[in-house]
Amino acid sequence: MAKGVYISKTLAIATVVLTLSALGGIIVMVTLYQMQIARNRPVRPPSPVPTTPIPTGLPPTLRLPENLIPESYELNLKLHLYTRLPNATEQDYLFEGNSTVRFKCVKDTWTIFLHALDLSVETVIVTQENTRENIGVERYTLHNDSNFFEILLKKQLKGNGDYYELFTKFKGELLDDLTGLYPSQYTEKGHDDKEEKRFLVASQMQATDARKVFPCFDEPAMKAVFNITIIHRPNTRAISNAKLDNERYVEEEGNKWIASTFATTPIMSTYLLAVTVNEFMNEHDEHDKKEISIWARPEAVAAGHATYAMSITGKILSFYEKKFNLKYPLNKLDQVALPDFSAGAMENWGLTMYRESALLYKESVSSSSDKEWVAIVIAHELAHQWFGNLVTMKWWNNLWLSEGFATYISYLGVDDIEPTWNIRDMFVLKEIQPVMELDSLNASHPLSLSESEIETASEILGLFDSITYNKGAAVLRMLSAYMGEEKFFEGLRKYLERYKYKNADTKDLWTCMKEVTHEEIESIMTSWTEQVGYPVININTTTGEIAQEQFLLKRGKDPGLEWQVPITYMKSDFVQKKDLLKDKGPVRKPAYEVTDDGWLLVNLNCNGYYRVNYDEQNWNRLINQLETNHEVIPLINRGQLIDDAFNLARAKYINVTLALSTTKYLINETEYFPWESAVNNLDYFILMFDRSEVYGPMQKYLRMQVVPLYNYFQEYTDNATVPRNLTDQYNQINAISLACSNGFTECTDMATKLFNEWKNGTNRIPAHLKPTIYCNAIAAGNEDDWDFAWKKYEEATLATEQDVLRYALSCTKIIWLLNRYLEYTLDPNKIKKMDAVSTINYIARNVAGQALAWDFIRAQWTYISHLYGGGIISVGGIIDDVTERFSTDFELQQLKQFRNELDEDGLGPTTRALDQAIERTEANIKWVKETKQTVLNWFIEQTQIH
Ligand SMILES: *[C@@H]1O[C@H](CO)[C@@H](O)[C@H](O)[C@H]1NC(C)=O
Ligand SMILES: *[C@@H]1O[C@H](CO)[C@@H](O)[C@H](O)[C@H]1NC(C)=O
Ligand SMILES: *[C@@H]1O[C@H](CO)[C@@H](O)[C@H](O)[C@H]1NC(C)=O
Ligand SMILES: *[C@@H]1O[C@H](CO)[C@@H](O)[C@H](O)[C@H]1NC(C)=O
Ligand SMILES: *[C@@H]1O[C@H](CO)[C@@H](O)[C@H](O)[C@H]1NC(C)=O
Ligand SMILES: [Zn+2]
Repeated sequence: MAKGVYISKTLAIATVVLTLSALGGIIVMVTLYQMQIARNRPVRPPSPVPTTPIPTGLPPTLRLPENLIPESYELNLKLHLYTRLPNATEQDYLFEGNSTVRFKCVKDTWTIFLHALDLSVETVIVTQENTRENIGVERYTLHNDSNFFEILLKKQLKGNGDYYELFTKFKGELLDDLTGLYPSQYTEKGHDDKEEKRFLVASQMQATDARKVFPCFDEPAMKAVFNITIIHRPNTRAISNAKLDNERYVEEEGNKWIASTFATTPIMSTYLLAVTVNEFMNEHDEHDKKEISIWARPEAVAAGHATYAMSITGKILSFYEKKFNLKYPLNKLDQVALPDFSAGAMENWGLTMYRESALLYKESVSSSSDKEWVAIVIAHELAHQWFGNLVTMKWWNNLWLSEGFATYISYLGVDDIEPTWNIRDMFVLKEIQPVMELDSLNASHPLSLSESEIETASEILGLFDSITYNKGAAVLRMLSAYMGEEKFFEGLRKYLERYKYKNADTKDLWTCMKEVTHEEIESIMTSWTEQVGYPVININTTTGEIAQEQFLLKRGKDPGLEWQVPITYMKSDFVQKKDLLKDKGPVRKPAYEVTDDGWLLVNLNCNGYYRVNYDEQNWNRLINQLETNHEVIPLINRGQLIDDAFNLARAKYINVTLALSTTKYLINETEYFPWESAVNNLDYFILMFDRSEVYGPMQKYLRMQVVPLYNYFQEYTDNATVPRNLTDQYNQINAISLACSNGFTECTDMATKLFNEWKNGTNRIPAHLKPTIYCNAIAAGNEDDWDFAWKKYEEATLATEQDVLRYALSCTKIIWLLNRYLEYTLDPNKIKKMDAVSTINYIARNVAGQALAWDFIRAQWTYISHLYGGGIISVGGIIDDVTERFSTDFELQQLKQFRNELDEDGLGPTTRALDQAIERTEANIKWVKETKQTVLNWFIEQTQIH
């Protein structure tokens, strides 16, 4: 799966500058993971007392017993859904089907265990394959909690390798929950240009929802081949993993149907099955004589929105085929853009599915960051065709083998097809820095857990987090840099070749790597995969002493962990060197000693997943180097120095003034990477101080630093032209957002001017600047401006355009407008339900809206907590976001009071989010008390010099 819901990069950047706390959302992810475990661990039902003295009972764990091995399925599904509803026809969400699974028995058993959920099973027949003997069924039971489908037999099956067939006939309903088989809808201009509704069926089996479609051995190692037939309404099309074999009309129950039969799939895991029935259109092309199609709503295809995806898919496949030395394993590939999809995308073998925003690209309307996202997600899903689909993890505890690889490899794929994007450098900003923040909390978890720790569906789903995706990818990138990319890929080719059409675990990967390097890769890598967190390397450059310890934001006693750390470094002579640090230390190594007034820089290009701390003298020399000639320090390390320093200051390794000093050289910096690192880190300072006397001097300092950058992009900004480089476009957004929000009037005037032009009929604001320019114009504007933007919001037909406006509307400083906007979130005709929570969050991020939003969610709590049918994700998230800025005793009191009120109402799950918010507020109070004066003095000092 591609991770999570995507916020447009430009939007995210714009919001980040205003407020987004570096820590906020991440904490919630971890707590959610634990919350889900705590909440949903199913109670195992008592084993039924056998009526005959047959040894039976549920398996001792939530894993299928190992006595039966599935080999093939014959699956027939009949989907009743209409894609259009003529006249008064009622929609029909029923599906029914039958399945025959052929399996081998390798251990004596009286019972067959497989999975089924939310299905009504009508017939169960078990047959011995050779003798055609019907094995009587004593009874069968669907265990709702464990999802086990238990079939108790009248006769014991012998574990002699004989084959059996299990036939089941079942019924189910398409539920609007985006899992298993589900319905979705969109509108399209029909006759007389009237908008008409269209319906479709889509699927999402990962992680454990194939069992909601048909009874099956729903575990990733239980691979089998599938013959699938879909029976659907006339004038609709069915697509599945394998190529369509034949289509024929059948008549059943007096109705005409189409029976689409698909070729046999390769041997694969159940979570990769996919089906869709729709009236989509496609763009298609050939790759290596295999048909590749991009499917979407007919209007989207006609408007050319699938063209970009089409143009890059074949290129990415070719790159992977060359790199992996293995052809794309199927004989066709369908990629589908769906109006409703829970994840970003899903790698179903031969039939990948995407949110529309992850596959469709609208030239000149979408921004280049939207394009980048499309490329990244496609490259991610295509990488899965090998990593995940061809070679699958033995069990979900090693999910990172699939997601970490797809995440890492996708950057190489995009880099190959769009070399000007410098996407490999973006990896550090987008994957490493965010996850390092999360991984420095006590609530983090190791990359690779033991099988027994991951059993329930929610434990499995909980693993789809940034540790698995980002840290998994970061650790692979570190290994690749350590071994050298050539050797790394040599090892990967071995791994793919050896385990194709099979399952592997983490150890198998290290074995393959060892075979190519003859080094103990496993002992190096397990320190990263099996231990939680990561180290900070402490270096004293006067003595050459070097030591490591776990980096924790909240420092306590050192837990004593130890890593094998691949180190790269250079000194002021610019000679790059390598080392492998195995000791916990401190040990003395002359290599890390610095003489005269030179400096030492460790972790070149951030290839290592760790932070580095130096003695103060070396820090000062590095900062000095930045200020005199920053370009001799590699670009990524300029960002690293900032990010490390701020995090080290938060964990009290270094003084906060030292961290702030790393931003002084930015006055001469034009590159995105260091600026973005600074923006992300300064954001916390803005949140903590934008209501205090620190804010004035701080704004003055930031204004001073950013004005040269603003001027650097001014020609582009004034002429509304787009810088060629992607990173320049992003940094232009930073420049404008920072300049405008820190009171650089030239910037606000520019935003207002462009916005007024739009009001007068011409909008020439480039797509990537829209969020920040709209926002700043509305912040500086009046009621009239707000109403204009609201009108545009109501008229917008594109989701991306709507999102931009919905965000910008939250930027006004006029209190009554913010209040009215909050009220709008209660009215689904004004703000769609799915957008209500994020709108409230936007308002809370505006310093003028903070208190209003907090009052609002407390007053409207009942409504808000039911917005998502009581789904805990967004409700926990809203508390997290709205209280982000809390840093006073009074706010702490209010939080505690709110928790007590909710406790009385028994609103369980949210108390966790509140506890988290309380803990964070306490930490904020402490931090503000400790640093406020120092920070204030520092900003005053900096602004007086100039
Ligand atoms: C699947 O289809 C193929 C080709 O029609 C056939 O040879 C094979 O026996 C079928 N497998 C099952 C399990 O029905
Ligand atoms: C819908 O109703 C109209 C008018 O009653 C009729 O002419 C048309 O044939 C109907 N369409 C279908 C598909 O039944
Ligand atoms: C299974 O379903 C298919 C499709 O509906 C049907 O043609 C077939 O007769 C069914 N098989 C049995 C044994 O009911
Ligand atoms: C580094 O070593 C010197 C010499 O022993 C010592 O004076 C200094 O305090 C050390 N610095 C740090 C940060 O440990
Ligand atoms: C940090 O440095 C400032 C002055 O540079 C000093 O006033 C402050 O006490 C230091 N803070 C800590 C925690 O040492
Ligand atoms: Zn994925």
